[in-house]
Amino acid sequence: PRNAQRTESGVVELAGVDVRALAEQYGTPLFVMDEQDFRARCREHAAAFGDPTLVHYASKAFLSVQVARWVAEEGLSIDVCSGGELAIALRAEFPPERIALHGNNKSVAELTAAVEAGVGGVVVDSYHEIARLDHIARERGVVQPVLVRVTVGVEAHTHEFIATAHEDQKFGFSLTSGDALEAVRRVLKATGLQLIGLHSHIGSQIFDASGFEVAARRVVGLLAQLREEHGDIESLSVVDLGGGLGIAYTADDDPPPPAELARQLHNIVQKECEHEGLPMPRIAVEPGRAIVGPGTVTLYEVGTIKDVELDGGARRRYVSVDGGMSDNIRTALYDAVYDCKLVSRASEPESRAVLCRVVGKHCESGDIVVRDCWLPDDLAPGDLLAVAATGAYCYSMASSYNRLPRPALAAVQEGVARLLLRRETEDDLFRLEV
Ligand code: LLP
Repeated sequence: PRNAQRTESGVVELAGVDVRALAEQYGTPLFVMDEQDFRARCREHAAAFGDPTLVHYASKAFLSVQVARWVAEEGLSIDVCSGGELAIALRAEFPPERIALHGNNKSVAELTAAVEAGVGGVVVDSYHEIARLDHIARERGVVQPVLVRVTVGVEAHTHEFIATAHEDQKFGFSLTSGDALEAVRRVLKATGLQLIGLHSHIGSQIFDASGFEVAARRVVGLLAQLREEHGDIESLSVVDLGGGLGIAYTADDDPPPPAELARQLHNIVQKECEHEGLPMPRIAVEPGRAIVGPGTVTLYEVGTIKDVELDGGARRRYVSVDGGMSDNIRTALYDAVYDCKLVSRASEPESRAVLCRVVGKHCESGDIVVRDCWLPDDLAPGDLLAVAATGAYCYSMASSYNRLPRPALAAVQEGVARLLLRRETEDDLFRLEV
């Protein structure tokens, strides 16, 4: 987070709050979210894209009622991809016209809830859904705005992207097969639906714009085809290029700022539209990770330390902490790279750095939080470690594996901490038993 600071004594403060006090008050593992960092990133994206409502916070990255309120206050829109996320946004009194619903298999109940709430967009993803949603809207005498999700044949992750290779997946209507055109035809025929945009999402943790470039070119190509077939579709004004802007997980990562991405997207779309003689659409995006990821850390307490001899005589130090794959599955699932620091004190002056593996307490050897990181050799049980950039897809993918309680999540702001989500208790374990 931007407001993390190591004081003279070596203790780290997050937005002016001592990490030892946080651990004392709320226990560990603990997610600590820097509210100002979150809001600043909302504002940066809003400024970059010129209109906050064109920036949809992808709430799958992390969502709680309080965080939905921050997003609403910052004027952004929000994406939800389930009835549960929709319920949280509505509980936060998020303006429904700024909510969009995603998903490849939204249930009738979810579609109904969205229509009844009056959400500003449903991103339709199959022929079945177009028919279903049309029926639900007409039954209620409303016209539901929709975007058609298009498969642009691009898959992008970090520094690489593959074009044409990614038709074989569950999301969207294929451009090359003509399904996207057909989907638009059906939406235009459906009296309960109004087409407001085209949508594409190419991947996550992307550092360079070349994948977006191909996607934008193909989406604009579809706009041109549509104009040929249907003339100007007045309500169709949005090209939503999805989420995916990458963040720094370690000091080596250097992601482009949102303004840079916005400028590139704008230039690409403008060039393609000029080429096709089309009016410039409004460009929407759906950042999740880039808004909530960087400003959160996870605090863990060190429990045990063990040195293990490797083939060839080298040693590896295993540092076990009190959480693990239940609060951060990303290392095990994606080989994600994180960094980790001792934050509750300074290391002894004579201590050297040792290459460590930070592991959790689950009954599984793949339960790794940080595969490789340098920690001082005087690290001891009771020390607090912080793993940076855990705001996105850690809490939201948390589980209660091995019946560990899900951690608490606290927000810090100008020297004050407050709890947003309490830690699960043993009683919570029994709540679902019948
Ligand atoms: N829009 C759509 C349609 C998406 O599917 C996603 C992410 C986003 C926006 C937000 O992407 P972001 O800006 O956060 O990269 N669990 C994985 C990431 C899966 C993302 C799925 N969709 C992870 O931990 O990296």
